[in-house]
Amino acid sequence: MPKKFYITTPIYYVNGVPHIGHTYTTVAADVLARWHRLIGDDVFFLTGTDEHGAKIEEKAKEMKLKPQKYVDEIADKFKQAWQELNISHNNFFRTTDKNHIKAVQKALQFMYDKGDIYLSKYEGLYCRGCEQYKKNRDLVDGLCPDHKTVPEKMSEECYTFKLSKYQDKLLELIKKDKLQILPLNRKNEIVSFYEKEGLEDISFSRKNVNWGIPIPWDNSHTIYVWADAFLYYLTGLGWDGFTPLIKQDRGINFWPPQVQLMSKDILRVHTTIWPAMLLSLGLPLSKTIFVHGYFSINGQKMSKSIGNVIVPNDLIKKYGVDATRYLIMSAAVFGSDGDISRQQFDEKYNADLANGLGNLVARVSNLLEKNNLELNLKINSNKKLIREYKEKMLGFKFDEVLKSLWQKLRTADEILSDKKPWKLEDKKEIKNILEPVAEDLLNVASLLKPFMPTVAEKIIKQFSVKQIKKSQSLFPRIN
Ligand code: MSP
Repeated sequence: MPKKFYITTPIYYVNGVPHIGHTYTTVAADVLARWHRLIGDDVFFLTGTDEHGAKIEEKAKEMKLKPQKYVDEIADKFKQAWQELNISHNNFFRTTDKNHIKAVQKALQFMYDKGDIYLSKYEGLYCRGCEQYKKNRDLVDGLCPDHKTVPEKMSEECYTFKLSKYQDKLLELIKKDKLQILPLNRKNEIVSFYEKEGLEDISFSRKNVNWGIPIPWDNSHTIYVWADAFLYYLTGLGWDGFTPLIKQDRGINFWPPQVQLMSKDILRVHTTIWPAMLLSLGLPLSKTIFVHGYFSINGQKMSKSIGNVIVPNDLIKKYGVDATRYLIMSAAVFGSDGDISRQQFDEKYNADLANGLGNLVARVSNLLEKNNLELNLKINSNKKLIREYKEKMLGFKFDEVLKSLWQKLRTADEILSDKKPWKLEDKKEIKNILEPVAEDLLNVASLLKPFMPTVAEKIIKQFSVKQIKKSQSLFPRIN
């Protein structure tokens, strides 16, 4: 039986178009999904858009559009971006989906009937950018540190989730890695949050937000956007909100997620509210939450007001799809923050792709054709390379995977420069030099499939025939 592998990205807010931050998470999830398919797992890869709440309501108003029309337009932009980037998701799911809305209402009704949701009054601060309640200790000079805005003072009647009830259970599950948080420093951060600050009950409804899912037993309230959003991880598989919830025939036999990818900005909610909701619903928790790094641009936070937002389409136009995927995945240590810039991308493109992979493929295929050599190359012949690769992929070390493949390419290049087969006459001697180099190139290409699916296939096709022909340049140099 193939192993099930369910991987998710966060659902992105539709208050803006997709940018390189969203792209990072989505391409990384795609790399993992593709790799798991290659090793024979049964994969479900889910992504989508988060479309309710005060922030989206406000944005639609600003654009002078009805919220539904506005979210339709932006959701399409996300869909299109992922299509252009060759993302292989199994479902693109939107929280305005009718089945999602029904299921969310059923789930909240279940939690209410169970006594996990109760009516109370909330007084405090709310950051609309985060769509989260804030404590004074979360603020810097009175401002939300992520959005640099003053949170709104709120005082309203609301339905409240008994989050505090799950403190001990969740802390234990996290400590024991039953809910694994990676990298380790992120786990420590969350454990320390539980130990020092702890879970407090949280408002799960809003009276003054219309653009949301009505609370089923009191439609003068709408459901808190995060409670709505988290359930997408279930509804995106076709879950209908009924309990007991796991039924093979309901199409959600992929539950629970093996890997949930995100960045640090939403780690805390994903390791507090989200697993507490699952416990309340009586569902198994996700296995691993992996937090990748946050991109800044030239040392600054990416923001519309600074005007430094990088959108995937610009990169694709300049570098092509596979090169864009490569540049993003190799830009930072996976799991640590990274600073990027357009100049850095240009340089890396020329060094690693135009002069690196592209040039090597051209050089080797050219020499093979010129000398009319017959080869019979095999994929997977380099066992050491494959073993190292597997270890790194399992450990989410994507940047290291790429580094070690490029090291292999550099070694191949050096062999050619050293031995200068173009100066030799003897065909056998030439073949002895070119054959292992070409075979390594074929191996590297096969391992590159999850990262650069189209280019990898091209190289594999080119180097899998007996009489290898030279090709057009894969990555034309840019200035
Ligand atoms: N809608 C919520 C998530 C709900 S999930 C149930 C949300 N949306 S978001 O549009 O703000 O997306 C946040 C996520 O986008 C981050 O966790 C990360 O995956 C990705 N990134 C957004 N900006 C990023 C960077 N600058 N750098 C790296 N990733 C970033 O939060």
